[in-house]
Amino acid sequence: MTDEVLYTDLTKYYELMCSGINYQEQCEYAQRLHQLFGIGGDEYLDLACGHGPHLKYFAKYGYRATGLDANQQMLDRAAESGIDVEFSCQDMSCFSFDRPFNLITCFLYSILYAYPQRQFENTLKSVYQALKPGGVFCFDAVDKNQVANDEGFSHQLQDGDDKLLFQSRWQYSGSGERLDLHIDIAREAGEEINRWQDKHSMLAIDIPTIKHLLEALGFEVHIMERDFSKIVEWQGENGNVFFVCVKTL
Ligand SMILES: C[S@@+](CC[C@H](N)C(=O)[O-])C[C@H]1O[C@@H](n2cnc3c(N)ncnc32)[C@H](O)[C@@H]1O
Repeated sequence: MTDEVLYTDLTKYYELMCSGINYQEQCEYAQRLHQLFGIGGDEYLDLACGHGPHLKYFAKYGYRATGLDANQQMLDRAAESGIDVEFSCQDMSCFSFDRPFNLITCFLYSILYAYPQRQFENTLKSVYQALKPGGVFCFDAVDKNQVANDEGFSHQLQDGDDKLLFQSRWQYSGSGERLDLHIDIAREAGEEINRWQDKHSMLAIDIPTIKHLLEALGFEVHIMERDFSKIVEWQGENGNVFFVCVKTL
């Protein structure tokens, strides 16, 4: 199954799978970082926007919001919410727009879908080109050397009479640049159980390499703990971080 098919097939479940995520907190956090590190402006782009949860908050904050995703069905789902947002179906490793942005985000480790590293580097270049001077690029990432290879994240919820069980976990072999994302979904309807399982290739990379690639492009780089409840500089230990990158004037 290709990466695109994964998200095409799971579109209807994706929103449910993410229902435990505090998107409002993430958006308040990113807006605050934009205020602290940027020079203002209201042109906002969310890369790999999925079903668009971040876009609606930024539109509410007064940004002119644009969502980019490689999957048209995800964008169609996002558009159903009726928010005043522009959508664009493009690959984040080679995207372009006819106007520059003040703030670009990419949440839920989605930047790592730019695999292999060449694609990731192209993504960073496209972002740099798409930003206005003084603009800010924020994204979260995990260090390949700190992938726990454990059972990951799981939760369950009730969907009408059915029970849905979700599990997502990363697996890294310890060498090479591929990080496998495993997604398992089960729907229990009485005696009947349907399962969907998939494996998705993401980029295995470490934090110093990401920092180096960003700085080589001309970004000023700040690394934060991936804790959306407070802005704290990375202490160098946690493998989950949030990058704040400023395109210098
Ligand atoms: C895990 S979802 C995250 C969605 C959203 N950012 C969130 O936080 O809920 C990943 C999204 O990345 C998109 N995606 C994967 N590869 C992509 C690429 N090369 N270019 C653009 N979008 C991509 C998928 O279609 C999917 O919607």
